[in-house]
Amino acid sequence: MPARSAHKESNQCSVVILAAGQGKRMRSQLPKVLHPLAGKPMIMHVLRQVAHAVPGANVAIIVGHGREQVEAAIRADSVNQELKIEFVVQPAQNGTGDAAKCALDSPWGKARCEEKANILILPGDLPLIPQELVRAMALPLGRNDAVRLLTCDLPNPTGYGRVVRRSSKGPVLRIVEERDSNEREKLIREVAASIYLFQSGFLRFGLDRIRNKNAQGEYYLTDLIELSAKSRKKIDILKWTDPGDLRGINDRWELSEARRFLNDRLVRHWAKQGVDIIDPTTTWLDQDVQIEEDVTIFPGCRIEGTTRLAQGSKVGPNAVLSNAVIGKKSEIRTGTVVVDSSVGSGTSVGPYAHLRPESSIGDGCKIGNFVELKKTHVGPKTSIAHLSYLGDAEVGSGVNIGCGFITCNFDGRVIDGQRKHRTVIEDDVFVGSDCHAVAPIRISKGAFIASGSTITENVDGDAMAIARARQVNKPGYARKLRSGRDEGK
Ligand code: UD1
Ligand code: CA
Repeated sequence: MPARSAHKESNQCSVVILAAGQGKRMRSQLPKVLHPLAGKPMIMHVLRQVAHAVPGANVAIIVGHGREQVEAAIRADSVNQELKIEFVVQPAQNGTGDAAKCALDSPWGKARCEEKANILILPGDLPLIPQELVRAMALPLGRNDAVRLLTCDLPNPTGYGRVVRRSSKGPVLRIVEERDSNEREKLIREVAASIYLFQSGFLRFGLDRIRNKNAQGEYYLTDLIELSAKSRKKIDILKWTDPGDLRGINDRWELSEARRFLNDRLVRHWAKQGVDIIDPTTTWLDQDVQIEEDVTIFPGCRIEGTTRLAQGSKVGPNAVLSNAVIGKKSEIRTGTVVVDSSVGSGTSVGPYAHLRPESSIGDGCKIGNFVELKKTHVGPKTSIAHLSYLGDAEVGSGVNIGCGFITCNFDGRVIDGQRKHRTVIEDDVFVGSDCHAVAPIRISKGAFIASGSTITENVDGDAMAIARARQVNKPGYARKLRSGRDEGK
């Protein structure tokens, strides 16, 4: 929450996001800003807040390390339609000041300077910043202000740049990085979060003057604060009171902590909306999931992507739902996995079922244990209760599929790019236990398939199909076999 009241709203600022660093401390092949939290790369959390707070803003994203990957990830996200994003390359990662200079030197930056825009700078590694913070920082600067600086008192300021003031509540003199600080400065708990709003004219002036004479040999954006303190312009301080919002991610442990923190926020949010989350510590929710009232989530579930859980449904324990749509009062039971698929209302799935992509189950169905479905549509009131695999199949309503059914959908050949053959099972079909259907095949309405059949030809409506070797009983033969075995001893 902002510690002071906001200024009046007016023209929008432009935005620079710093995302060129490698993130050495992550010790990872993946560029730092692409490490995911709650189902999204960390930079996407920052961009989403920017899109909410300053919709339609001109945004320059400074890329360098792993830039192809970073650009591709951002281009693939819908936030791209909500902001005017341009990428600016920082050829060598010479520090945050150098990154900001790359932005200003680019055609993007020149256009912003001509407009005399205010420029909001955000690092790509603060994924927990709330929308209100971005909004408060984006408000216009006062006429005499060179910059607005976001600061916060941290219980443990280690690693952050410290805000040095003339006296404890006096004017800000400069920011000193941890590595350049002396013992007295290290005791300062007020830190800079690396979020600023600059007057573009002052930013240009300052970036042309900073030097890299510091412990890291880098150009520090933070040095602009000392420059503005020395100029006649003023520094507008926005002091944020919730340090949790400003967690920076520099290594894997900070990433784990930030995930935990964000997950707690999401779990609390949904609990307040009427969702019964039995164990918040083992329930992991992605940011874009939607959950209705009276849903119960048992321990150990991951609810990912754009999953939607309708009123009264029950999930888990230990279920994984990814981009799933679950209807009212359905149960997704122990150990079930649902990916890119939908389940109707009043349907029970699992324990230990696997709905693979592009499957849909109707209302009032029972999909039992160890059932795997892939690209399969199941009509209402159908039961596939035990140990089955259905792929590329269309199953009607009121169908009963016994234990151990398999659609044999792949014959080892790929013809015109098609690998798999379809199985159609129409309404009210009864399939006995342990049957196979060799696709392509159609079993028409009301047909009856005898147990143990391997169906290779279409079956007409209301017909019975039986496709298994006839049984031969040989009286007394078992005894004979036994005695032969005993003689052999
Ligand atoms: C920075 C600040 C520090 C502040 C902290 C808050 C500086 C010098 N230090 O330190 O005062 O307390 O953030 O989180 O600004 N980046 C580039 N190009 C570069 C270097 C960095 O684009 O050449 C990007 C990184 O990808 C990252 C952001 O800038 O997203 C911040 O860089 P990082 O190295 O994490 O800075 P901190 O050490 O955290
Ligand atoms: Ca950082």
